[in-house]
Amino acid sequence: MVKLTSNKDDYHLISRLWTNYIWPQKRTLLFALLFMALLAATTAAYTFIVSFVIDEANSLTKKNNTIKQAQSYAFSVLPLLIFITATSGLSNYIQRILNNSIALKAVTKMQKQMLKSTYNSDFGSFKQKKSGDIISKFTNDITVVSNALIRTMSNLIAALLTIALTIAAMLYQNWQLSLIMTVFIIAYWPILSISKRMRGDAKNVQDQIGKITSNLKESFNNMRIVKTYNLEILENKRLSKNFDTRERLQMKLVTEQARVDPILEVLGGLAIAGVVIFGVYQISNETASAGSIAAVLTGLLILSPKLRALGTLNNVGQEGLAALTRIFNVIDEEANIQDTSRSQELIKLNGEISFDNVYFKYADGDLALKGVSFIAQPGETVAIVGYSGSGKSTIMNLIPRLYDVQSGSVSIDGHDIKNIKIKNLRNNIALVSQEIILFNTSVANNLSYGNDNANMNDIIHAAKQADAHKFILKLPFGYETVLGENGHGLSGGQKQRLSIARALLRDAPILLMDEATSAIDSLSESAIKKSLKDFKINKTIIIISHRPNSVKNADKIYVLDGGNIVETGKHKELIKNRSGIYFKLQN
Ligand SMILES: Nc1ncnc2c1ncn2[C@@H]1O[C@H](COP(=O)(O)OP(=O)(O)OP(=O)(O)O)[C@@H](O)[C@H]1O
Ligand SMILES: [Mg+2]
Repeated sequence: MVKLTSNKDDYHLISRLWTNYIWPQKRTLLFALLFMALLAATTAAYTFIVSFVIDEANSLTKKNNTIKQAQSYAFSVLPLLIFITATSGLSNYIQRILNNSIALKAVTKMQKQMLKSTYNSDFGSFKQKKSGDIISKFTNDITVVSNALIRTMSNLIAALLTIALTIAAMLYQNWQLSLIMTVFIIAYWPILSISKRMRGDAKNVQDQIGKITSNLKESFNNMRIVKTYNLEILENKRLSKNFDTRERLQMKLVTEQARVDPILEVLGGLAIAGVVIFGVYQISNETASAGSIAAVLTGLLILSPKLRALGTLNNVGQEGLAALTRIFNVIDEEANIQDTSRSQELIKLNGEISFDNVYFKYADGDLALKGVSFIAQPGETVAIVGYSGSGKSTIMNLIPRLYDVQSGSVSIDGHDIKNIKIKNLRNNIALVSQEIILFNTSVANNLSYGNDNANMNDIIHAAKQADAHKFILKLPFGYETVLGENGHGLSGGQKQRLSIARALLRDAPILLMDEATSAIDSLSESAIKKSLKDFKINKTIIIISHRPNSVKNADKIYVLDGGNIVETGKHKELIKNRSGIYFKLQN
């Protein structure tokens, strides 16, 4: 766990932010600095203008001037004022754009790195996380960091420069009076201690937002069940509680934050009062001009919002660092399943799959496979049957290395799959998974997903093989019909046929079908089986089912029970064993 208030961790976070995300933009940064300096200089110049205007006016009154003199005075001040305000406004505009661009480029880079790392991460560890929480890191945490960066650049650097130059200008014009401002600096200590505490609060708020996103996503996905089971009130209550918690956590944070402003305000008021009292004394003593006192007051008015911005900036910074920690945690996630120096480039595999004494256990479960061994040859259709939970899908998960075996080995063409480049391995596999995966795009795009080279003829051919062509033509726009989220608008069997067509289109040497026809009527199923017969030449097909009828024609059938293969043979042989699981599954 990252300790939230450790200065060393902060130092690492900030230095990583600087070296990887800010420094690479040094040219923009240099220009931004230039315009921030210009902004600071023109702002500090106001104190000189004020003192000049007042002292000149004073001397004019003393000289019993003519109206003409007064006019020429006004005309000399006016262009100066216009020049200064115009320069100040323009530099403010440019520095703001440059700073925003630096911050946005930085967070876009973070988002891309997060995305890459999320896709690279192990399937198992990804599945253990809540997708809503991950999404909120891409959206909420990124916004927090981006705001913090923009405000740090615009406020911290620009404000510090303005503060330094204004203080210098004030000291130059009336140093005794200006020393009163030290009060401000002393006031910074209690504010720093407040913001340290806020860091933990900020992280709690962000975690809670992640939780809300993930719970909402989950609940909305399950709307069908929620409605048919009358769970609306329960879901409302459950989710509302999350909002309440967020409100409470956020309130805690803003209550801390709110303390900063009034403290600074009171201190500012005290400083102005001090200047007025001491200033009157100086004027009566004739140790200072009215102009210089007005200059110090102007300086204080310039400083006050800048110092306040610095105070609240600390809050934003603390929130930003908390979000940055969450973001870097995603970027730093290491994948266990990845290519090593031993990984071989094997572009085209024949597809001889061999499981040798494979043991496998999910991170948070018992052993799902306990010494499974079998072989599937090219040109063969191998079926795996068994009760629910016996480990069938687990076998499928191991072949494309969604998970790695704990002991034993899975090999293809005699190579342990751990020694085949993952990209090559997966390019040689087509999968129809038990959960149907369709995207919110056209039927044609859904079928060609993962099959970049497929043209329309190939797509139609695959759809015909999967007995999907006829129903696709009946859709409002045929192959161009856009499907709803996860195939909304299609029946279960139609969705399955699209998944099968997509897998067939891939034309890979290994075809894995996990309960691919469970929702398809027998007529359609036998049509698909007929196509598979033509398709399977030189291909290895593994079919999972708990219905022996769907795998009757398989060349080999393995019956799985509790993670062990307990029966092996062809349909005709297996069905004879009346006490066997295969026979029982039939009935
Ligand atoms: N991601 C997971 N994390 C932990 N345990 C899991 C996970 N997936 C499956 N299991 C467990 O592993 C065992 C085998 O599951 P598997 O999905 O392989 O069964 P199956 O034979 O495909 O069942 P079904 O016919 O219902 O699809 C089960 O006991 C299951 O609870
Ligand atoms: Mg399964």
